[in-house]
Amino acid sequence: VIPVVLDCDPGHDDAMALLLAVADPAVDLLGVTTVAGNQTVEKCTVNARRVLSLAGARDVPVARGADRPLVRPLRIADDVHGETGLDGPLFEGDPTVPEATITAHELLVDVLTTHDAPVTIVATGALTNVARLLADRPDLTDRIDEVVWMGGSTERGNVTPYAEANCFVDPEAADQVLRSGVRFTMCGLNVTHQALVTDDVLAAFTRIGTPLAEICIEWMTFFASTYKRLWGFTAPPLHDPVAVARVIDPTIVHCVEANVVIETKGDWTAGATAVDLHHYTGRPPNAQVAVELDRAAFWTKLIDAIALLGDQ
Ligand code: BDR
Ligand code: CA
Repeated sequence: VIPVVLDCDPGHDDAMALLLAVADPAVDLLGVTTVAGNQTVEKCTVNARRVLSLAGARDVPVARGADRPLVRPLRIADDVHGETGLDGPLFEGDPTVPEATITAHELLVDVLTTHDAPVTIVATGALTNVARLLADRPDLTDRIDEVVWMGGSTERGNVTPYAEANCFVDPEAADQVLRSGVRFTMCGLNVTHQALVTDDVLAAFTRIGTPLAEICIEWMTFFASTYKRLWGFTAPPLHDPVAVARVIDPTIVHCVEANVVIETKGDWTAGATAVDLHHYTGRPPNAQVAVELDRAAFWTKLIDAIALLGDQ
């Protein structure tokens, strides 16, 4: 079983990533940390608690992280994820899973220093929390088995022509994490755009037949409506669970070694990931870069996970 902390900004696809991490038997979810990105960190934290409550994961601590990027002002994605950050189904009352009394930083330090084996950090938002952790506690780098990030792209971006949202929000953080020497896997848009929520995927969720599966359908339908309205997609890419799937079973997300650097200064390209897939630069590889998704295996994992959670 792989010990994991999920650092996220829920977010519709983060919500699905959380459910996968809670349910899949290959993952031991030790904690959830939140970061500003899709919405403010306050809203993302409530959403993470909401999702864990729906999943019945009452023992997973949820700790609030950075409320803004390292140096830039926060740019939220309410155009994609709505006013709450998780628009769609309406919920009443507070989620039952509480917010931890410690910060995300403290939770990460706690987990890394006390867990008996190195821990995988799956990051599905900006890398602000991870960069701060590595800057403050470089001694803990060895306690991190790997950082598996949904972010970047080997191709084009989704906020600007070359920048993907999680990288665009905090390019300096991504740059610092890549320079830290921690083992790093990048699941970028080039692979997450292979995880499209098509009608047959929605039909498979419908067949699960639980209230939780129904909520997932409502989230994915909301996400689909924004992708259609903003960019004309006929099916939206469910980015974040791809990073969790990579940890669960590396054969689902095929990676190659490559050098990745982050553009922090470009007039038109800040937040771009320059991925040297063809070894043009001679710079040594510093990351595993996801290039191909086994779609059938990916959706099977996700659908099985939601079914396994049953009626919570
Ligand atoms: C990433 O940006 C966010 O909107 C999503 O949650 C995902 O992590 C995709 O670019
Ligand atoms: Ca996210």
